[in-house]
Amino acid sequence: MSAALFLGLDVGTQGTKGLLFDAESGRVLARASSAYGLIPGLPDTAAEQHPSTWLTAIETVCRALFAQNADFATRVAGVAVSGQQHGLVVMDASWHVLRAAKLWCDTSTVQEARELEGLFGQVVPVGYTASKLLWLKRNEPELWSLVRHVCLPHDFINHVLTGNFEMEAGDASGLGFFDLETRSVDVEKARCIDNALPGMLPAMLEAGALQGLLNATGAELLGLPEGIPVAHGGGDNMMSAIGSGATHVGPVVVSLGTSGTVFCYSDQAIRDPEGLIAPFCDSTGGYLPLLCVMNLTGVLHEVREAFAESSLEALTEEATHVEVGADGLLFLPYLVGERVPDLPDATGLLSGIRPGLLRPGHLFRAALEGCSLNLALGVARMRKLGLQIDSMRLVGGAARNPLWQQILADVLGVPLTVQEECETAAFGAALHALWTIRKCEDPELSCEEATRTYLRNDGPVIEPVADNVKRYEALRERFEALLAKNFGASFPSSR
Ligand code: XUL
Repeated sequence: MSAALFLGLDVGTQGTKGLLFDAESGRVLARASSAYGLIPGLPDTAAEQHPSTWLTAIETVCRALFAQNADFATRVAGVAVSGQQHGLVVMDASWHVLRAAKLWCDTSTVQEARELEGLFGQVVPVGYTASKLLWLKRNEPELWSLVRHVCLPHDFINHVLTGNFEMEAGDASGLGFFDLETRSVDVEKARCIDNALPGMLPAMLEAGALQGLLNATGAELLGLPEGIPVAHGGGDNMMSAIGSGATHVGPVVVSLGTSGTVFCYSDQAIRDPEGLIAPFCDSTGGYLPLLCVMNLTGVLHEVREAFAESSLEALTEEATHVEVGADGLLFLPYLVGERVPDLPDATGLLSGIRPGLLRPGHLFRAALEGCSLNLALGVARMRKLGLQIDSMRLVGGAARNPLWQQILADVLGVPLTVQEECETAAFGAALHALWTIRKCEDPELSCEEATRTYLRNDGPVIEPVADNVKRYEALRERFEALLAKNFGASFPSSR
């Protein structure tokens, strides 16, 4: 009989990716993806997608995966979904989706987030789900009166696949009203938003518990037989942690995607009094302190669009010939506001423009450097909270850019190992499904034990260049001074 396959699906902001992992050979046998965008024409600060977009993309991806070999669909032993964190899905009493989901990168709810901060007595980042709920209740009261079920993107997909309405601590810890000790919803805080809210949320599952079995709808959507086990999966960063081996203390991962994230496993909750580093749970029973910046690959695409004839590869090539520091051109990359530093209303800033510096290569290098310097501020904050960061694993869709790899190593001042498997969220979801199935036989099996043999960390190592590290340290001071001058933001860094 052919070996078991595990299907990992990653439902992201710019598209859905899927892969089939063969546990016997330890190889990914098939990959597919389907792209989509945000709903156009909304106010600048809004970022929304309809949940039906995700379902259509999942169907497309699965059709493409299973078309690659007639045998594949018969060999799938487990499925798990990774989803963009924090998005708000609302449904009525008949489980119909009532409106488009406001996403993690939607900053239209700043006022509600600030108000909740007062009520909760703690920082409530605008990207988290909490302020989206209050916003909806305030701004669309008629629609709110119909809401009976509320969940996150990956919980919604799990519900479609199995009919069970459940959630797990990793993604749920990004709701904004979560108790890290009990790993369950903070009911008092949820009631501050709406008295009925606790009753609208999914039931909580233990880490590694089976979410359910594919029902008729789920089987039809994926093109698989009914009854296949579905693991609970989790938020994309939680699944990426599994796919990059951050399931034990040690590895620190930097992920370059629509958002930029840096995270590591912790066996205890890490709380940042400034609220800059997120105190998430992971999806294996531990914790996942995490830095998330909103401006990353989107900034590069903006620069590319400014030079209509150019590709990212051509711009990278041109930027390679520009000196470290882009001859004084410094780019504060806050095109869509920012979560870290906490500047949801900020806009981007270009400083040091001299004749000749608005050329594609200079602008592109300044964008890469600005995004990296901004990430470095958050990494300094992680160190200040006591996290040990001596080296990092580099993953995510943009991790293959050789110039960015070097700039990041120089700006962060640590060696970076480029993971062979860069799509760590979909890969981590497949591994999560594998762990869940094996755990049914062996309840004590940890995710780390179940998955470590499949994780390879022998990719190329990018060493920081000492001279560049010094130059970027100076540039970072200029970056921080500009932050303070233009946005009044002082950043609690490690120096
Ligand atoms: C993390 C966050 C983002 C999204 C991207 O807090 O908001 O990384 O998960 O999909």
